[in-house]
Amino acid sequence: MKIRFLIYRFNSQKKGKLKYNLYNVPYKKGMTVLDVVAFVYKNLDPTLAFRYECRQGICGTCGVMLNKKPVLSCSTQVDSSIKTQMIEPLANFPVEKDLIVNLEPVLKRYQKIKPYLDRIHKVIITKKKSNESKVFRKCIECGCCIAGSPDLSKKIFSDLDPMSLVKIARYVTDPRDGLDRKSMAKKSGISRYTEELGKKLTLVCPRGIPIDEAIALLKK
Ligand code: SF4
Ligand code: FES
Repeated sequence: MKIRFLIYRFNSQKKGKLKYNLYNVPYKKGMTVLDVVAFVYKNLDPTLAFRYECRQGICGTCGVMLNKKPVLSCSTQVDSSIKTQMIEPLANFPVEKDLIVNLEPVLKRYQKIKPYLDRIHKVIITKKKSNESKVFRKCIECGCCIAGSPDLSKKIFSDLDPMSLVKIARYVTDPRDGLDRKSMAKKSGISRYTEELGKKLTLVCPRGIPIDEAIALLKK
């Protein structure tokens, strides 16, 4: 059985026109979205550009939109009941080439929130305290949450995107960190995140991070 995949093609260097190429890919049980693009690259079109590293859901480099939803391509199996499917780069990011997005704007925002322990307090961390930040430490910086709300994105995410707010929550729950992270979140516009948006973003996160809880924590 073959599945039809419409794959986004664009080259920012050549100011090429955006187009979707159609590829017929033989389906194998358990096949992932990354297997699909790798098959296309190896057998049908070696010019297709895409990104991946670990193939294990750890490195966070392989995010794409599958049928308009952000997913990690290495950890998402193809649903064989859908005969024509669409693979696109992550929404809300500028596109470099095909499925590869430019992470620079996000990394610039990320720098602003100081994504590291700062003004460190020397404290003994209890297991209970460690568990509070554990859930937010699971973030692999894949950007799926940033792509998770194409309709609302630019306005809300331009100051504080969801990946950054999860990182802030990670340090708010770590007693070693000495920065006033909640004020930082408030100044950056955490109030613009509604409960509904938080729930929507939580559903998107491939690591199961409760982004809605991070938002609630930072709004307190
Ligand atoms: S919060 Fe989840 S979706 Fe967002 S960057 Fe981290 S792992 Fe990816
Ligand atoms: S290739 Fe590393 S998370 Fe998918």
